[in-house]
Amino acid sequence: MERKGRLEGKVAFITGVAKEDSIGFATARVCGEEGAALAIVDIAEKCADCAASLESMGFTASSHVADLTKADQVARAVDEALAAHGGIDVLVNNAGMVIFGQDESFVPFQELTEEQWDFDIAINLKTQFLVTRAVVPHMIERGYGRIVNVSSVTGPLVANPEESGYCAAKAGVLGMTRGLALDVAKHGVTVNAVGPGWIATGSQADGEDVGGLNTPLGRSAYPEEVARVICFLASDDASYVTGQLIVVDGGNTIQEYKGPSELYY
Ligand SMILES: NC(=O)c1ccc[n+]([C@@H]2O[C@H](COP(=O)([O-])OP(=O)(O)OC[C@H]3O[C@@H](n4cnc5c(N)ncnc54)[C@H](O)[C@@H]3O)[C@@H](O)[C@H]2O)c1
Repeated sequence: MERKGRLEGKVAFITGVAKEDSIGFATARVCGEEGAALAIVDIAEKCADCAASLESMGFTASSHVADLTKADQVARAVDEALAAHGGIDVLVNNAGMVIFGQDESFVPFQELTEEQWDFDIAINLKTQFLVTRAVVPHMIERGYGRIVNVSSVTGPLVANPEESGYCAAKAGVLGMTRGLALDVAKHGVTVNAVGPGWIATGSQADGEDVGGLNTPLGRSAYPEEVARVICFLASDDASYVTGQLIVVDGGNTIQEYKGPSELYY
């Protein structure tokens, strides 16, 4: 018997896809493997190269360049995707953390400027609000939708120094996830969040890699391991799951002991 993919016939709109070694690209590939047509979006032109790469793997993929902090650019990208694919069934709000080609900035709270704060909130939280607000009316109209917001363990559960803007935004993503989940539940739309921990993307720094080695599972996650959880939440296997945060961190946040492992276990 031929096995159908879990997203067969569905269209997935995935933000933040400009690098092949990223969570966004892995999500697009896994959703493609499960049968979805893909509309990928990024502020970086490299998004088009990722779409070409996905097409070379045999998937249907369109690319859309937009700054997702700008409502007019969001509206254009969503309209383009609807015109290309005829609908949007799955929305993965993944864009954030850093803009392609730029470095992430780390600033102690007492030195955080209003401008930096606004930037952190804009790329990590406002992007998700604007994209969701543009897509959700189409989902409500069709009585179906799966929204997966990429949050983090950083903010909702734990924190790192010099990242209070990012922490606030990612915790905000979780609050928005829960509020939206209630507003759209009666329309057949589910809304969930994933909370990645240490992930071995191409941009992972050495110190972060060591963080991964000290998790209970003893390594960082592959981007695909986050992508598979996103894909589960985007599928009908998760039809009765809404308003939840699924943590993908190798058990790191349930580990109480933070000292050298040889002194304890
Ligand atoms: N890598 C990790 O360890 C990790 C851990 C927890 C959460 N996350 C989250 O996972 C997501 C993906 O992370 P990644 O590591 O794959 O990073 P990444 O840098 O490869 O992907 C983020 C993408 O978002 C795009 N983007 C940022 N601002 C944008 C805007 N205004 N408009 C359009 N596109 C924009 C960037 O250009 C980039 O291509 C992020 O939301 C990040 O916060 C990552």
